Amino acid sequence: MLVQAFNLMAHPFLLFLLFPYIISTNIHACKQTERSSLLSFASTLSSPPLNWTSIDCCRWKGITCDQDGWVTRLLLPSKGLEGGISPFSLANLTHLTHLNLSHNSLYGSLETQFFLSLNRLEILDLSYNRLSGKLPLSLPSSNIRTVDVSSNHFFGAIPSSFFQQASNLTSFNWNLAPGLGKCSKLQVFRASHNNLSGLLPEDIYNATKLEEISLPRNSLHGAISDRIANLTNLAILNLYFNHFGGELPPNLGKLSKLKLVTLDFNNLEGDISMLDFSRLSQLTKLDLRSNSFTGTVPVSLYSCRSLKAIALGKNYLEGQIKAEILSLKSLSFLSMSYNRFTNLTRAMKILTCCKSLHTLILTSSFEGEGMPSDDDIVDFDGLQNLVFLSLGNSDLTGQIPLWLSKLKNLEILFLGGNQITGPIPSWLGTLPRLFFISLSYNQISAQIDLSANNISGYIPAEINQLQLLRRLTLDSNNFSGIIPDQISNLKNLEALDLSRNHLSGIIPSSLASLNFLREFNVSYNNLEGPIPTSTQLQSFDTSAFVGNPKLCGAPLPNKCRPNKDMDADNKNNKDGAMGIINFHGFTFLLRWVS
Ligand SMILES: *[C@@H]1O[C@H](CO)[C@@H](O)[C@H](O)[C@H]1NC(C)=O
Ligand SMILES: *[C@@H]1O[C@H](CO)[C@@H](O)[C@H](O)[C@H]1NC(C)=O
Ligand SMILES: *[C@@H]1O[C@H](CO)[C@@H](O)[C@H](O)[C@H]1NC(C)=O
Ligand SMILES: *[C@@H]1O[C@H](CO)[C@@H](O)[C@H](O)[C@H]1NC(C)=O
Ligand SMILES: *[C@@H]1O[C@H](CO)[C@@H](O)[C@H](O)[C@H]1NC(C)=O
Ligand SMILES: *[C@@H]1O[C@H](CO)[C@@H](O)[C@H](O)[C@H]1NC(C)=O
Ligand SMILES: *[C@@H]1O[C@H](CO)[C@@H](O)[C@H](O)[C@H]1NC(C)=O
Ligand SMILES: *[C@@H]1O[C@H](CO)[C@@H](O)[C@H](O)[C@H]1NC(C)=O
Ligand SMILES: *[C@@H]1O[C@H](CO)[C@@H](O)[C@H](O)[C@H]1NC(C)=O
Ligand SMILES: *[C@@H]1O[C@H](CO)[C@@H](O)[C@H](O)[C@H]1NC(C)=O
Ligand SMILES: *[C@@H]1O[C@H](CO)[C@@H](O)[C@H](O)[C@H]1NC(C)=O
Repeated sequence: MLVQAFNLMAHPFLLFLLFPYIISTNIHACKQTERSSLLSFASTLSSPPLNWTSIDCCRWKGITCDQDGWVTRLLLPSKGLEGGISPFSLANLTHLTHLNLSHNSLYGSLETQFFLSLNRLEILDLSYNRLSGKLPLSLPSSNIRTVDVSSNHFFGAIPSSFFQQASNLTSFNWNLAPGLGKCSKLQVFRASHNNLSGLLPEDIYNATKLEEISLPRNSLHGAISDRIANLTNLAILNLYFNHFGGELPPNLGKLSKLKLVTLDFNNLEGDISMLDFSRLSQLTKLDLRSNSFTGTVPVSLYSCRSLKAIALGKNYLEGQIKAEILSLKSLSFLSMSYNRFTNLTRAMKILTCCKSLHTLILTSSFEGEGMPSDDDIVDFDGLQNLVFLSLGNSDLTGQIPLWLSKLKNLEILFLGGNQITGPIPSWLGTLPRLFFISLSYNQISAQIDLSANNISGYIPAEINQLQLLRRLTLDSNNFSGIIPDQISNLKNLEALDLSRNHLSGIIPSSLASLNFLREFNVSYNNLEGPIPTSTQLQSFDTSAFVGNPKLCGAPLPNKCRPNKDMDADNKNNKDGAMGIINFHGFTFLLRWVS
């Protein structure tokens, strides 16, 4: 009752409240000049119509007007727009502050005239289109704060004028008034994934409001000037996949607002040992992979308390991992692969105390050392969160140690490319989440189960407990004995590589039931008998079976009768088991995890 009475009262009251708004939207009706500008813009598009038909253009989809009926925002991201962008179609929208046409299929070049009259533009997002040509010589306005032209086909140099106050640029001779250009308001500049070349323009270092510079995947070269230290607001410096050279700016560490620094895949060099990063308390990710840095890991890095990801792989770094790394309480990703560090045992003793580590990639970081043994790594309480561990391609000696069995969250274990001997431990079957194991290129052999006084099942039958296992690569080892029938219990298995061992006996017919197998290889063993018939096994290349003289049947050419030796030197070698995975924003080749 009470509610109903309230409703009755509320209606006239609501109308009264709404009245001013109804009136004001009428007042906001768009100007006819604005309307025809918008229609002229729409007419250059060949895509499905925007359904801009009503009189009041301020109510059209993607349009916002101000009090006086000027169009201030044109936001049409991901609308399937297709067509050439014309410099004149938008030129009359002089009150535009936000222009977002990202994720469409616009083409053509951005003439400088495009912006001449857009004096109030603050946000410009044309990313993910098919725009081409050179970048325009000037940015629209002195008010521009964000420019995103990523993922287009622009080429040529980044115009210096982008970073000057650009209000009247074309009619203004900057040479006559040097210094005036200091007050660009530009905060965000993104032009990744184009084909920009040349140097970073000097004036970028004057744009002190810059908070983000994102130019990855271009062809930029030259050094990053130490003047970058003037950009005190910089939080994101994203320059990976370019050709930048020279040393890291010595004063980079003064940029105390830095959160993300990704300079991987460039030609940067120099000794980084003494760089001072101690002020970078907000830095969460540092990626310097695939450059030519030398020296040791700068100790100052260990005081960047917010660090979550450090990637230093593929450089020429040396020295030891210091215990100070444990002060990085949030560190979840550490890749040091393909460097020249020493004392793996010491490093692992330290890292086993790391509580937050999720991914630890030490591929080819500690060459020719011993696998940290169970005598060295005792009683640790860290690494509970470790999901991905690589100690591969390091020529490590020793056996697969028991301490690994404490890593209950491990999903990926990469130990390929070492000199590991001894058995595959049966406890591997007790790691509940493990789905990828690579033990390729080692000398792992017999499984000796002393408790049962039983030397058998050379590939341990317990492997069938790894129900999540998707990839098992045991190629190029010293396995003998038979292929355990139990492998067929691994219903999620996608890749099984047992090539280049001394396995004998038949291929268990139960393997024919592994429907999800996409990669399979038993070549170069001593297997015999018919290849079990299933659509799956017969679909693999013959190179998956060659080098087993007594194996017969499709897809091998020899019929199942004991004669005809196999053509042992099948030249059709492909890089079979090479896979690529994406893991936490990092891409890895599975054979050479870096
Ligand atoms: C822009 O305005 C000028 C002058 O008012 C006019 O001549 C021109 O046709 C307009 N352009 C568009 C695309 O509306
Ligand atoms: C186009 O807009 C009108 C109103 O302005 C609406 O009634 C109609 O459903 C829209 N058509 C499409 C295809 O969106
Ligand atoms: C443009 O629009 C897209 C989609 O809504 C959005 O993700 C993006 O952040 C916008 N760009 C800018 C610079 O705000
Ligand atoms: C910008 O240039 C126009 C002529 O193109 C001129 O009339 C105007 O005064 C200039 N404004 C400034 C701030 O220099
Ligand atoms: C950029 O700043 C330097 C001083 O650091 C100054 O000499 C130069 O004139 C400035 N450039 C422009 C275009 O303002
Ligand atoms: C990128 O630009 C260079 C010249 O700067 C040119 O040789 C190359 O073909 C371009 N690549 C693409 C993909 O356009
Ligand atoms: C920019 O940095 C350089 C070297 O780091 C310095 O000499 C110069 O004074 C700085 N300029 C400004 C405007 O801060
Ligand atoms: C490795 O470090 C430990 C200290 O943790 C030290 O006792 C050992 O000698 C070092 N080994 C090598 C080969 O330097
Ligand atoms: C040897 O151990 C395996 C499992 O590890 C078991 O299946 C087999 O029956 C045992 N053989 C003998 C002779 O005990
Ligand atoms: C490989 O296994 C055979 C026995 O099967 C053994 O004689 C040989 O020593 C093993 N080689 C290595 C390097 O472990
Ligand atoms: C199987 O492994 C052998 C030897 O490692 C290799 O040469 C061959 O290309 C592989 N075949 C397939 C189908 O993966």
